[in-house]
Amino acid sequence: MANILIIDDDLEMCLVLTTLVERAGHTGRYCLTLEQGLKEAIDNPFDIVFLDINMPDGSGLEILSNLQQTPSNPEVIIITGHVDIDSAEIALKNGAWDYIQKSASPKELMLPLQRVIKYREGIKQPPPVKIALRLDGIIGSSPPMKSCLDLLAQASNLPVNVLITGETGTGKEVFAKAIHNNSSRSHRRFIVVDCAALPEKLVESILFGHEKGAFTGADSVQEGLIKEADGGTLFLDEVGELPLSVQKSFLRVLQERCFRPVGGNKEVKSDFRIIAATNQDLDKMIKKNRFRKDLLYRLKSLGVHLPSLKDRCEDIIDIAIYHVKIICDRYKLGTKGFSPDFVDTLKLFPWPGNVRELVHSLETAINASGNSPTLMPIHLPTNIRLESMRATLGKKIPNDSQTPVMTNYRDMINSTEKEYFKNLLSSTRGDIKKCCGISGLSRSRVYDILKKHHLSKQS
Ligand SMILES: Nc1ncnc2c1ncn2[C@@H]1O[C@H](COP(=O)(O)OP(=O)(O)OP(=O)(O)O)[C@@H](O)[C@H]1O
Ligand SMILES: [Mg+2]
Repeated sequence: MANILIIDDDLEMCLVLTTLVERAGHTGRYCLTLEQGLKEAIDNPFDIVFLDINMPDGSGLEILSNLQQTPSNPEVIIITGHVDIDSAEIALKNGAWDYIQKSASPKELMLPLQRVIKYREGIKQPPPVKIALRLDGIIGSSPPMKSCLDLLAQASNLPVNVLITGETGTGKEVFAKAIHNNSSRSHRRFIVVDCAALPEKLVESILFGHEKGAFTGADSVQEGLIKEADGGTLFLDEVGELPLSVQKSFLRVLQERCFRPVGGNKEVKSDFRIIAATNQDLDKMIKKNRFRKDLLYRLKSLGVHLPSLKDRCEDIIDIAIYHVKIICDRYKLGTKGFSPDFVDTLKLFPWPGNVRELVHSLETAINASGNSPTLMPIHLPTNIRLESMRATLGKKIPNDSQTPVMTNYRDMINSTEKEYFKNLLSSTRGDIKKCCGISGLSRSRVYDILKKHHLSKQS
């Protein structure tokens, strides 16, 4: 049941409308002037207001926005004796629900009313319950990651082609797999096509399949990857590497969902969903005529751009904890903890290779840590430790645009080096062999550096 207010100076019209709305099971009230009408709308909650334009105390359009701003935020349906396009335009542009003539039949008068009621019931409904996504292997709760997870949910529910972009190692393949696993196609196959590794001569046969005897060496009928993805998902990894000739035939497959195997004369159907991924800038490639614009348009019904790890530092430690557990389980080791400076080092490194580089470095650290239950910076690859150390020292040196850098470059490098070797000696307890192994430097170079900084095994 809805509350309806009628503002019209025509008493007969007010009575007709009140009768119609009450017959339909709603409550109706009317006012004969704009002033009264507005007061009524401010004092009482209404869902819908029927508003006349030509009123004795002004134009109904003048109070349209005041009505919309009253506490119950009603929808306004304009009713007028004289239809005029200009006022209709003003009314609709200002958010009126509809604009109808008084001469309309009772049915026509009631139709917008029913629609408004349905609409308002819809917005009062609680939002649909979110079905939990299966996110095997996707860790991260930073704001950029949350936006990507929202897109993942959308992509899982819609039958559209998806293009995932992002730097190397940002998780494009794990995302593609998660979209498939959460979609209605999850019970069918997820077929990966590594476009960068397709041998030029066999591309078509690998994708479309071939008939027996189609070419030398084609001893039997071979189903292509596109057919294997029937009912499931075809993941075109590194799609920027797809040769131009194949881009053309692929576009046709995407439009028609059928293709002809090499050497075959019958069209084969396949109902597959495409998810493509690339770390290249396809728009730039289009400008250089290396990628087809029409193909990009087809592939990118929905685009997901995965953030670089340095833009979501808050996720680094959660990802590290997740992967350390996996790696330790794989090596049948008890899981390992992190020292505070290990955590700092991970957070300070810019991770150009993103999550993949982080995972590899953790694997290196676990191997280097031997029986130690705690991972420490000393266990990490040297380049990561040096870079993080540089970042820490850099913080101590004023380096923003307002404050000029006042430190000599060589001095900065020297102090970084000295700091590094001091830590190295202390973590290896002065074991020069270990220092060489960790730093990747020769024995004589290590001794030279220690001498330069007046450091000794005992330091
Ligand atoms: N959000 C994440 N949480 C945990 N691990 C992740 C996440 N994203 C990626 N990884 C891990 O990082 C590694 C690289 O992921 P993936 O292969 O999906 O990256 P990619 O973007 O496809 O890389 P490339 O461009 O080099 O092909 C994998 O080991 C994967 O498990
Ligand atoms: Mg990949």
